Parts: sequence; C-alpha cells; structure tokens
Amino acid sequence: MAISDEDINKVREATDIVALFSERVPLRQRGREYWCCCPFHNEKTPSCKIDPSTQLWHCFGCGEGGDAFGFVMKADDLSFPDAIRYLADRAHVDIHETGATRMPQSRKARLRKVCEATDEFYHAQLMRGKSKEAAAARSYLSGRNFGGDVPKKWHLGFAPGRQALVRHLSSLSFAPDEMIDANVAVQRDGGRINDRFYNRVMFPINDPQGECIAFGGRVIGDGEPKYLNSQETPLFHKSNVLYGLDKAKKAMAASGIAIVVEGYTDVIALHENGIENAVATLGTALTIQHVRLISKHASKRIVYLFDGDAAGQRAADRALGFINEDMTPEAGKARVELCAVTLPDDLDPADFVAKRGADELTTLVQGAKPLVLYGIDRRLSKHDLSSAEGRTRALTDALSVLAPIKSSLLAKDYAVQLASRLQMREADVLDALARTQAPRAYRENDEGSTGNESESGAIVTELSESEKNRRKFERRLLSLLAQNPERALQNADVLAQTQWRGAVNAQLAETILGVLAEKQDVSAANLISRVADTMPRAAGSLTSASLSDGESLDEAIAFLVEELEIGDIENSLSLMNAQMKHADNMSQEERDIMFMSIVQMQKSLAAKRATHQPRV
Ligand code: CTP
Ligand code: MN
Repeated sequence: MAISDEDINKVREATDIVALFSERVPLRQRGREYWCCCPFHNEKTPSCKIDPSTQLWHCFGCGEGGDAFGFVMKADDLSFPDAIRYLADRAHVDIHETGATRMPQSRKARLRKVCEATDEFYHAQLMRGKSKEAAAARSYLSGRNFGGDVPKKWHLGFAPGRQALVRHLSSLSFAPDEMIDANVAVQRDGGRINDRFYNRVMFPINDPQGECIAFGGRVIGDGEPKYLNSQETPLFHKSNVLYGLDKAKKAMAASGIAIVVEGYTDVIALHENGIENAVATLGTALTIQHVRLISKHASKRIVYLFDGDAAGQRAADRALGFINEDMTPEAGKARVELCAVTLPDDLDPADFVAKRGADELTTLVQGAKPLVLYGIDRRLSKHDLSSAEGRTRALTDALSVLAPIKSSLLAKDYAVQLASRLQMREADVLDALARTQAPRAYRENDEGSTGNESESGAIVTELSESEKNRRKFERRLLSLLAQNPERALQNADVLAQTQWRGAVNAQLAETILGVLAEKQDVSAANLISRVADTMPRAAGSLTSASLSDGESLDEAIAFLVEELEIGDIENSLSLMNAQMKHADNMSQEERDIMFMSIVQMQKSLAAKRATHQPRV
C-alpha cells in the first residue's frame, strides 16, 4: 500500500469516531459513551456502542466492531486505502498520495535514493576514511574476522556522525525532510538536523532485491545501545524484513532450507563460512510475515537457531506461539516445516562456527527438531522428572504446547510419546490432553454454543458451560486490555502466562504482546488494528467488552485476572488428582510429596476463592 503509517496515524488522529458516526446515524449519549442502532443489521433498540475515549465501536447485536477505518470500509464497502483517502479528505489531512506536488511512489523512490547515497557514503568512510575513528572501525571489524573482502561484500560502513552525512546528502540536493523520513537524520526540538548514527559500524539492511532500505549500527567495542537500528519508515517495516535475504535467497531456493538467526554478525559469519542460507530478524521475534516471506524462497524447512543465552531462550518461548493447526498433517497443505534448535554453551552462531566450524553447525541444523517437539522438550527440561510431582507439572506444561492442535492425530502421537517419557499411562495422558481444553478446533469466534464442523473439517464437540464461561472471561480480559494498552502493558505477565483455553485467545494474547513489544505507547485503536492485520476477525472481539455502570476498569481487570488464575490452578489440581489415582508407579515418598502439594494448592485455591468476587 502506498500510504505511510505516519500518514495513516495523522488521519486517525484527525478523525473523531463519534462525529463520523453522527454524520450517518442518530446517536444517543449514555454516560461517556454513545449508542446507536447498528448500521450493519436491522434493529429497533440501539446495541452499537461508540467509545470516544478509545475511538472504537462495537455492536453487541452482530459482533462487528473496530476503528474508524473499519467502520467506513464496512459501511461504504471500501478498501483500506480508499477508507484512508475518504477519511483524510473528510478531515482535510494531506496524505502525500493525494497532494499534487509529491506522488507517493516518487516519494518512496526518493527515500530509496537517500538510503543508497547514505550507504555509499558510509562504505566509503569505512574503506577510505582518514580519521582515527574510521581506522578504529576497520581494526574492530578485522579483529572480529570481518576483514579481507567482507566489508566490500556486505557493503559495511562507518558513520562518523557530526553532521558529516547531513552535509554530504545536502550537497547531493536531498532535502532535510527526506533525510528525516528515511531516518538517517533526526531533528531535535525543531532545531537543526543531525546525523542519526554517530561513530558506529554500519550494516546496510537491504530488501530482497538487494536495495538498501535501512541501517543497523553497532558501537565500536563496548557501549550502549549496542545496536541502533533504523526506525520504521515508509520503506522499512522490520516485522517483514530479514537481514541478508538478498544474499541468502539463492542458497535457500537451492536447498529448500532457510536458517534464521538473531544477529547481523551471525549472518555474516555463517555466510563467510559457506552457510549461505542464513538470515536474521532485526532485533524482533520471528513474525508470521517473516515466515511467509521466507517460504517464498525456502520451500521445505525453516530452522530457527536460538542463541544459548537467556535472550535466546526467551525468543524460543515466543516462537512456540507459531504452533497451530496449519502445521498438522490434517491441514493437508504442504507447508514449510518450522524447526528449532538451541545452540549449546551460551554461544551464538558466530561464536559457534568460529569455535567448532561450519560442519558442526550444519550437523546441528540438520538435527533441528520440529517446533512442536522442540517445544515439548523445552518444557520438560524445566522440570525435575525424577519426582512424580515434577513429572505432573511437566505434563501440564508440555500439554500446553499441544493445546492449539490438541484434536489432531499429531498431538495424540506426541501425547503417547509423553506418556512413556513421563512414565504415565497413555490413557491418562490422552485424557489430560483432551481436558487441556484448547480450541473448538480453531474458529476465531470460539464462544459459540453448538457443536460444529470446524474450518479444518474436524468434528468439534460441545463445550461445557464452565468452559464456555472460562472463554468468555478470557475474551473479556483480552478485550479490556486491548482497549487500554497501558493496562495491557502492566499485565504483560498475565498475557504471557495464562493458560488460554481458547486457541484464538492464546493467539490474541501473543499478538497483543507482539505489538506492545514493538511500540509501548500505542493507542487502543492502533493496537487493535495492528492485531487485526494478522487476525482479521480480531477487531470485532477486541472491541466487545465494556464496563457496566459504576464498574471500575482496574477492578474489572483484577477480577478477571484472578478468575483465570483460579481456573489455571484448578486445572493443575485436577491433573495432579488424576495422577494420584494411578499412583502405582510412584514410591511412597513421592506419593506423600504429591499429596502435600495437592493439599497446599487446595488451600491457596480456597483462600483465593474466598476473596474472589465481582466488585462492582
Ligand atoms: N539488537 C538490537 N539492539 C540491541 C541489541 C541487539 O537491535 N541493543 C538486535 C540486532 O539486530 C542484533 C541482534 O539483536 O544483531 C542480536 O543481538 P546480539 O546477539 O546482542 O548481537 P550480535 O549480532 O551477536 O552482535 P555482536 O556479535 O556484535 O555482539
Ligand atoms: Mn549475538
């Protein structure tokens, strides 16, 4: 789309959703909210709410909802760009596309020229710069085995800072706002503009065709921040760009395999050691857009290589969010297989090839496990499997990996394997899997009441009342948090740790966390529309919750958090109780320990329940 995020935000800020609705339907004010008869279905009493504070709307009759853009798209049957054009026009906001002076394509082409000229300048500074800082950059790189023809091949650079770039670009007739928009220069407090990168080694970030669209800059030696990267620009969206893809795509196509690592230097080190199918994310987790992009080039397998350090391990946990029904054989689609492996001994890929060589790395990559198995092994490794209690906890933890695919044969296969690894009965583990209560096989609105044919064709059984309630609570919490991003941020742990029963809810939580990780001060409307980018039906459900009269937001959230926590404890307890029933392969001591911890858990559950009530 040819309209920049910045322009979209301008339009969003200039649009008042209440005014927009009132141009089309009669509104009634109730408290701070406005209500109308839903424009999208026939009704006599208003069930469509418009909330000025979040700039969101939701119809409790038909379940539709979203932001201002979504409203005009639906009401006027417009595409997203046309909705932006319409609202821009209405609010008299000049989006660069409609202005007569600058067409958006020429604007982007211009920003590409800025990046290209910057890339050339930085590279020349590194290769021929006379200053002692430039010399230090050269020796830093050769000290890391990036001497010889590496700087030339990767077009590495050196940013001197001190307005050297701004002066150079000005001499080439680039305007200050072009430098700023390409994010190679910054303007402080309306004052003069300056280079964004200062005394750093520069890694140009290219699009898949090899044209430079952004930069990563590393301090020379130690210092903070270690890396400074281009922010989002009209050319550069880090959630769908991979470092090194332009150079790796050939080897990916040849082997069908892609390797994803975390660092720029890892990519270079791997390529220089003959492993040329490696790319890196840009300081973010792998996204579904990345996966789609890679699978255009690597048709068989994506191997995610996690650093052995703590950050790498966090990335590994996030990656488990990719497990969904699309990866089961039942989905039938020949999909690229996602695999993962963790590097040993706190090493990153660059260290690993330096110490142990390319062959050992290749062996490691070949031994990468399918993501589901990797996830199960990872969960099991966190528990002490020598005690029955540890094994029970391990089971709950491992089954949660399978939850999104629990009705698949694949999940059942893994459950049977789990039984033997945890010395449990197959029947018990399969039972526990069934009770893991994941998806009503993967519909986005999984709160409906009828047993039904799911989208993947599996027969889905009716959920119990309490299970339906649980999902409603989950959805309500997610909706309240999405409408109040600062609360979502405060409750990031809850989003990450709750054992979401609805698979879609799990995915919503994950996606919300992803958006927050990228931008902490995001507005509600922006957050929800970002989530809806990957989950098209999310806008309706995330706008659905509202507070009743006199209910406070914080109390409503606290209640829901407790409710879900209690549910999670109950779930663990019932698993442990089931274990106790078949405790024949436990020693007396193990049984005692388990019994004690069941009692403990029951006590804390009782305490929580005693104080737990809706506070209106
Ligand atoms: N990163 C970042 N900002 C930071 C640290 C890291 O954006 N402050 C991103 C960069 O894209 C970096 C990647 O995360 O390439 C991996 O980080 P790290 O492992 O710390 O860096 P390496 O690439 O291994 O860098 P080096 O070997 O130079 O330390
Ligand atoms: Mn690293």
